Amino acid sequence: MSTEATDTTDKTLVPIEWLPQGKVRFLDQTLLPNEERWVEIDDYRLIAEAIRRLQVRGAPLIGIAGAYGLALAAAAGDDVEAAAAELRSTRPTAVNLSWALDRCLHAVDGLTGGDSVRERLTAEAMAIHEEDIAANHRIGKHGAALLGNAHVLLTHCNAGTLATGGYGTALGVIRSAHTDGRVQRVYVDETRPLLQGSRLTAWELERDGISCTVIVDGAAGSYIRRAEIDAVITGADRIAANGDVANKIGTYPLAVLANANNVPFYVAAPTSTIDLSLASGDEIPIEERPREEVTSVRSEPIAPIGVEAENPAFDVTPNEYVTAIITENGVARAPYTRTLRAVSTREVPVRG
Ligand code: MRU
Repeated sequence: MSTEATDTTDKTLVPIEWLPQGKVRFLDQTLLPNEERWVEIDDYRLIAEAIRRLQVRGAPLIGIAGAYGLALAAAAGDDVEAAAAELRSTRPTAVNLSWALDRCLHAVDGLTGGDSVRERLTAEAMAIHEEDIAANHRIGKHGAALLGNAHVLLTHCNAGTLATGGYGTALGVIRSAHTDGRVQRVYVDETRPLLQGSRLTAWELERDGISCTVIVDGAAGSYIRRAEIDAVITGADRIAANGDVANKIGTYPLAVLANANNVPFYVAAPTSTIDLSLASGDEIPIEERPREEVTSVRSEPIAPIGVEAENPAFDVTPNEYVTAIITENGVARAPYTRTLRAVSTREVPVRG
């Protein structure tokens, strides 16, 4: 069942929540910035659909949504393993989704009673959500310190409150630096094809009173070369053990441009985005999305009907272009094979 309502009053935005009556409520991101529509659902299949359609998107947020999806499945008496398989299949690149599903399945390993499984999955999903928000605030603090005198920043896609449990990763760093009065302006790549930069990041920044300027993706290089950008900062969908970073398509050229112009390129991500099981970024699965996302905008064709098009949703930035990776447990720098392991193996809170 799905009910919809409009709410424009909430200032401290949390893009998804578990409702006491056993439903999930989320902000439909496909409609932003034109409409703030909240959707309430009680069927995990609709969570899977929302992830596929990018109504909820961003690596940490799809992990949280997946965890809430399992809680819905248990509440409805659905097969939890089958629900996990369906949720897992929705988007392949962001490791946070598998990470969250595995953590939830592990939490109910050995439990048999329907009620205890339901209660445990709900508690685990809420814990994942709360921990993500707390991690983002810590990322924000570490990142703001790292930025130092970098006052003009450039970001790509949306790694904000909308992509996480709340507060954001790259935008969490920017929010934290802004709270300290140290952000002059944020340049926002529009982020073709689905415009997460102009639709979502600019919306978030304006909402928080942070000065921002939207530019087309192809303009970023000129701004970087003219020394108008002090630092580039993005989020990540998956980080391999050697520090190669998968993120929204267009991140790799940005990193190369930053590197060629001696501008730092920072990645902000929780440790749940680090996949130590993959030696390098070559092993990261890259999602291929429908060609229509490239050849049309909001169903309006912008290319000849039937023309060939390809739509890889992510690219991989080799570690040599990454100045530092900001996590909740500290800032990792090269050699990443050692430092990412160190930030990842810090004690994770275990809930009984
Ligand atoms: O396709 P999307 O919108 O889910 O892509 C999102 C990104 O690439 C983000 O930069 C990434 O998930 C990090 S979000 C904190």
